[in-house]
Amino acid sequence: MAIQWFPGHMHLTRKAIGERIKDIDVVIELLDARLPGSSSNPLLAELTAHKPTLKVLNKQDLADPGRTGAWLAWYNARADTSAIALDASDAAPARRLIDACRQLAPNRRGLSKPMRVLICGIPNVGKSTLINTLSRKTQAKTGDEAGITKQEQRIVLDDDFYLWDTPGMLWPRIIVPESGLRLAASGAMGRNAYEEEEVVLELLAYLKQHYAPLIDARYKLGLDAEAIAARHDEELLELIAKKRGAVMSGGRLNMQKAAEIVLTDLRGAALGRLTLETVPEFEAWLAAGQLQ
Ligand code: G4P
Repeated sequence: MAIQWFPGHMHLTRKAIGERIKDIDVVIELLDARLPGSSSNPLLAELTAHKPTLKVLNKQDLADPGRTGAWLAWYNARADTSAIALDASDAAPARRLIDACRQLAPNRRGLSKPMRVLICGIPNVGKSTLINTLSRKTQAKTGDEAGITKQEQRIVLDDDFYLWDTPGMLWPRIIVPESGLRLAASGAMGRNAYEEEEVVLELLAYLKQHYAPLIDARYKLGLDAEAIAARHDEELLELIAKKRGAVMSGGRLNMQKAAEIVLTDLRGAALGRLTLETVPEFEAWLAAGQLQ
């Protein structure tokens, strides 16, 4: 099953961002630190060309710290791009975002030349959480311009620092089917867009190669990394179902329930801090020209 997105949104979003971008100094793209490449929007680079960009790897508290470091280095090596990692609900790190934007556009300062920032991200990446964290922190400065703020989705973070929420909805960069399935596993999509069991089998196929000890630690399978990697994905899910008592009347294993258990564990970090794609994997997809 391929994960689908909605073409209707694409046209509207392209138009809306195209109109807004003229007055923007810095673009923030919020990414999921567990899937930075796949949670980016494929058209954003084109729509925001020539604007300094801050890549924010959000949900870093759920991601593998070593891999987050590698992704940050990859983004920071680009001209006109900075990258930081944060947890959107944590106010102190979130404020770093303001400093990072100021460094990207040092000429914008003061009331006559306020910093104008556009914040973008695919659904569920944590944009609302981050905006709430930032605006709660500076609530006194959000001002009384309720009409303007609502209509134009403008948030005043400092006297001379305005943040605009993206007009329209952005979609993820699903280059290969696996990345769509891993995005679904991370919780980036509504439940009607995918089959849990299919998503979890793909997830286990990846985890057994990259994070086998974490599978054993969580589900107490009594297998070493090599033995886990050698198991078929279905077999691994069956072992998890048995361990977790996901059994129907008559003794048949409830694979759907086992899949839901694994997804809940992944999303709540009960499996540990995981990142589901590396820079070399993502670069290989790009090089293979499999862009959609
Ligand atoms: P959006 O506006 O981009 O669509 O995303 P939103 O802020 O609604 O966040 C989507 C989910 O991700 C929420 O969880 C939110 O709590 C969680 N989230 C956002 N930022 C972070 C982060 O940095 N770390 C972690 N661990 N989670 C984050 P939810 O399950 O939908 O709701 P709830 O758990 O808050 O009830």
